[in-house]
Amino acid sequence: MKISIVGGGYVGLITGACLAEMGHEVKIIDVDEKKVNAINSAKPPIYEKGLEDLLIRHSGKNLTAGSDFSSVRDSELSIICVGTPQNKDGSADLGYIISAAESVGKELKIFDGYHVVAVKSTVPPGTTTGIVLPTIMKASENNSCIGFAMNPEFLREGIAVGDFMNPDRIVIGSVDKRAGDLVESVYSGFNTKILRTGIVSAEMIKYASNSFLATKISFSNEIGNICKTLGIDVYEVMGGVGLDHRISPYFLNAGCGFGGSCFPKDVSALIHFARLKGTDPVLLESVLKVNQMQPLVIVDILKKHLGSLEGKRITVLGLAFKGDTDDVRDSRAIPVIEALIADKAEVHVYDPMANKNMKELFPVIICHESAEDALKDSDGCLVMTEWPEFSRLNKEFDTMKNRLIIEGRRILNVPDAEGICW
Ligand code: UGA
Repeated sequence: MKISIVGGGYVGLITGACLAEMGHEVKIIDVDEKKVNAINSAKPPIYEKGLEDLLIRHSGKNLTAGSDFSSVRDSELSIICVGTPQNKDGSADLGYIISAAESVGKELKIFDGYHVVAVKSTVPPGTTTGIVLPTIMKASENNSCIGFAMNPEFLREGIAVGDFMNPDRIVIGSVDKRAGDLVESVYSGFNTKILRTGIVSAEMIKYASNSFLATKISFSNEIGNICKTLGIDVYEVMGGVGLDHRISPYFLNAGCGFGGSCFPKDVSALIHFARLKGTDPVLLESVLKVNQMQPLVIVDILKKHLGSLEGKRITVLGLAFKGDTDDVRDSRAIPVIEALIADKAEVHVYDPMANKNMKELFPVIICHESAEDALKDSDGCLVMTEWPEFSRLNKEFDTMKNRLIIEGRRILNVPDAEGICW
């Protein structure tokens, strides 16, 4: 099938590359010329396992990128994959969605075949029918040959190619059966459950999934904080809890909380949306509250050991919001570094990939090229990201002034490390 993907960011690029791998003819549309050139020359503008191989196989063949929307008219399906960043009040900013819909609609003004517009971006329930559909109808001067669908993504950063190719489920929400059938045919090569729903339900499934996973994490962290007062290991406890098949063992890893570009933003947007609708999202608010407090718990433990942090040299190992990425968006290391700086500590950091991104946020931090360098003469070490290489550290901690090691992620293999909630 000929498919246009609007937005060559993380979701659009993975979707485009994977659909090309499935044999479709894909055109990615992005306003950023640099990104377009990178895709066309098979150089992934972001790091994702397996992405470069897909680009090498398909770029310039059945996967191309460009900045004009003319390919829309030549495609049967347009998939909108633009970002929905967070507004100051927690709501989702739909500016990119609206301009994508306008551009797609304009192309479909003089078009007489059948074309489906599917939204893959994470959007508040009601956006596809309430905003995308009327915007496209207006821009296309009410072209009646357009169908609408919502097809949420469930891709984890770092392993998104694997998630796309082996999904737990594919959700397709549509206004009418014909539009849903066309989107379903795109996934005919996938061996997984395809769930057909209404459009608003598909939008809500995405928000509810991310909010539930975030809830599991905050729940484990709250249980972990209680375990800490009892002197027991939350991993032993949640290991026992997760064996119940109704609960499952996944996303129960306690630590310093969830970060990234999705969970914090999506839970906030759902809270904002719920309030607009006149409901009181107390559970979701608590999920965020636990997550905001959790990174500060590790700073409190540090202070219990060291007293005032003024002039102390503190090492932060791990800056990315999770391992295998340089992404620091909403990383739990951010509030920790903020607190350390406020307490006048001298902050030394090391991350295998994210030093540069964190330095941009906090020019005052001192970045090191290895954990060993960052640990030298340190008064205390906080581990904030589960990088596999940290599991091999041990003698490196001996170079600290004081071998005080506190883990916000369960990754070390040293007997004297103290866990944030274990
Ligand atoms: C998340 C979801 O997992 C994807 O299904 C979804 O498609 C994506 O958001 C999105 O909406 O686009 P992602 O943000 O890439 O994916 O990262 P996760 O692997 O889910 O981790 C999020 C955060 O939770 C990280 O900071 C991680 O360290 C933390 N986490 C995860 C825990 O603290 N404990 C856990 O047990 C699992």
